[in-house]
Amino acid sequence: MRIVVLVSGTGSNLQAVIDAVAAGELPVEIAAVGSDRPDTYGIERSSAAGLETFVVNFKDYAARADWDAALLDAVAAYEPDYVVSSGFMRIVAPGFISAFEGRYINTHPALLPAFPGAHGVRDALAYGVKVTGCTVHFADAGVDTGPIIAQTPVTVLEGDTEETLHGRIKEAERALLIQVLGELARP
Ligand code: GRF
Repeated sequence: MRIVVLVSGTGSNLQAVIDAVAAGELPVEIAAVGSDRPDTYGIERSSAAGLETFVVNFKDYAARADWDAALLDAVAAYEPDYVVSSGFMRIVAPGFISAFEGRYINTHPALLPAFPGAHGVRDALAYGVKVTGCTVHFADAGVDTGPIIAQTPVTVLEGDTEETLHGRIKEAERALLIQVLGELARP
């Protein structure tokens, strides 16, 4: 099973996938890692791991449609079975979704449909929920919408900050992403 992973940030969830593949625990080939911005640690750590990387810099494109087309071309060139958005902070175009229908996976640090968007951890904390968690789902053209594959609850602790809570959610998120990829790879 070939995957392309898209990241915008540090890529710590991606690192867990890289490690699981390297340890022989996940029968997946990471064909490439791509980003929407240059100079991300996610790309740096991927290169360090010997993976192919690409950047389709959002800021290099005057028209959104041109970036959409460039991203689709860049990802499609690797002929992935699945595309994984792991902390990729852009909503992709409907054309991308239809090209990878049922094959574009997103991870989100909240129990969707609660707290979608870029601040899922902060919003859950601000609301005062006692349990939040993470979701792995097939993404559609909405913001963190699409069929849910799996979820893990995470208890909010007294005194949690966004950072401490996100840290525990990410631990759960990594395990869940690896579990889901494993299930997809070994049907
Ligand atoms: C994850 O919690 C992801 O769900 C969210 O951003 C975080 C990515 O972290 N959108 P990292 O880049 O894998 O460290």
